[in-house]
Amino acid sequence: KAVFDLVVISNRLPVDITSTDGGEVSWTRSPGGLVTALDPVMRDADAAWVGWSGAPDLELEPFDADGTFLVPVPLSASEVSEYYEGFSNDTLWPLYHDVIAPPAFHRAWWDVYRRVNARFAEAAAAQAAPGAKVWVHDYQLQLVPALLRQLRPDLEIGFFNHIPFPPYELFQQLPWRRQILDGLLGADVIGFQRPTDAANFRRCVTALTGVKARTEKFTVHEGEGYNRTIQASAFPISIDSKSFSALARKKSVRRRAQEIREELGNPRVVMLGVDRLDYTKGIRHRIKAYGELLEDGRVTPGDCTLVQVASPSRENVEAYQELREHVELLVGRLNGEYGQLGHTAIHYLHHSYPQAEMAALYLAADVMLVTSLRDGMNLVAKEYVAARSDLGGALVLSEFTGAADELTGAIMVNPHDIDGMKEALLDAANMTPDERRRRMLRLRRKVMSNDVTRWSKSFLSTLESLGATNHTAS
Ligand code: G6P
Repeated sequence: KAVFDLVVISNRLPVDITSTDGGEVSWTRSPGGLVTALDPVMRDADAAWVGWSGAPDLELEPFDADGTFLVPVPLSASEVSEYYEGFSNDTLWPLYHDVIAPPAFHRAWWDVYRRVNARFAEAAAAQAAPGAKVWVHDYQLQLVPALLRQLRPDLEIGFFNHIPFPPYELFQQLPWRRQILDGLLGADVIGFQRPTDAANFRRCVTALTGVKARTEKFTVHEGEGYNRTIQASAFPISIDSKSFSALARKKSVRRRAQEIREELGNPRVVMLGVDRLDYTKGIRHRIKAYGELLEDGRVTPGDCTLVQVASPSRENVEAYQELREHVELLVGRLNGEYGQLGHTAIHYLHHSYPQAEMAALYLAADVMLVTSLRDGMNLVAKEYVAARSDLGGALVLSEFTGAADELTGAIMVNPHDIDGMKEALLDAANMTPDERRRRMLRLRRKVMSNDVTRWSKSFLSTLESLGATNHTAS
């Protein structure tokens, strides 16, 4: 029965599902940002969440998880390979991140992407009450807005792109560029992380479709004298700042932070990187800068150590396998060359950790390194700031992240400029406590007030007002 007032659609469901051989299914809440982001709005509304379980060939009935109705969309093993690993993560992901890795274009992948997007749209259409809001998330599902509007013209449809939107000159490479734009234009509100992403999108629309999208709000003509207004603008996402800050203030977490520093041999400076092992994150550039400082003798492993958490990601995609080889080679070489007994230069951890351990790592780190070559937002930067209510710690932040728009108290770097990054690393390592405090206060003013509840509420209220305008017009 179609009964829900709010339906959220994302590629992954907000839970990690495990199923046993006996067919029994259990789930745990996944630690992802989007889950916490939507928690408050989901709780307030009669809401359902449509998404993939994360496992191939698993057919599950809808079920209730902590009061949210979850609707699993099944994907076969070949769909996982062609829609998720292929078109989403080997075509769109590199294309939308400045072609840092070369995107692969295959018609067979596109066909499966279309088919899977249609399945998500149908699943959502079956759950949404008349006039309900549907919020579609991210690049894996860009065709869903238009498909859904065809099935259910009564709905208010929002789309949010969590990753960058490329400039026209790169987007043009996509053989299915027109279809992707038409898919997105099915939404009433199209949200992006940065104003530049929204501007890129509007320029693509104006150049490639008949629609003139020269301002944040623009009009599409849908026949028989009916015009629909669309808004394409920035809604920078955030984290649950208060609860992250509270987590980092817990005694057990503070104790663990101290323990971590001891385990590292109590160096004067601990530098930290935390990323999915992804070529967009500039992990190699960062390690290169640190490596050159070792080589120049400007830092020593005992004095200044680097901890790099690189959580496993998209391991079946070749570019990710190559990145892993490169990073591990580089780490091995530097540790072999500059490490000493009891003093490792780079502590490389190919794992993911629970939130409490992450908070302890942030507290243990004097310098946080976020050096992405391109990044939609980067929530790690915001988590670090939220964790540092002690006003210690320095953030080195790439200007190519969405977070750079807001976190102007950070030490900004261009990760392509290795020499510049080396100086920034040293500046951060040697910053006076006063300067740290001053900068961290500035950073915290942004992160603590612009939290994720504000983000989701502002998106949904924009959707509500535009949806109302469009429905009165029809
Ligand atoms: C990025 C994307 C998300 C995605 C996440 C993890 O943050 O914007 O849509 O869920 O990476 O990647 P994965 O492929 O494991 O879902």
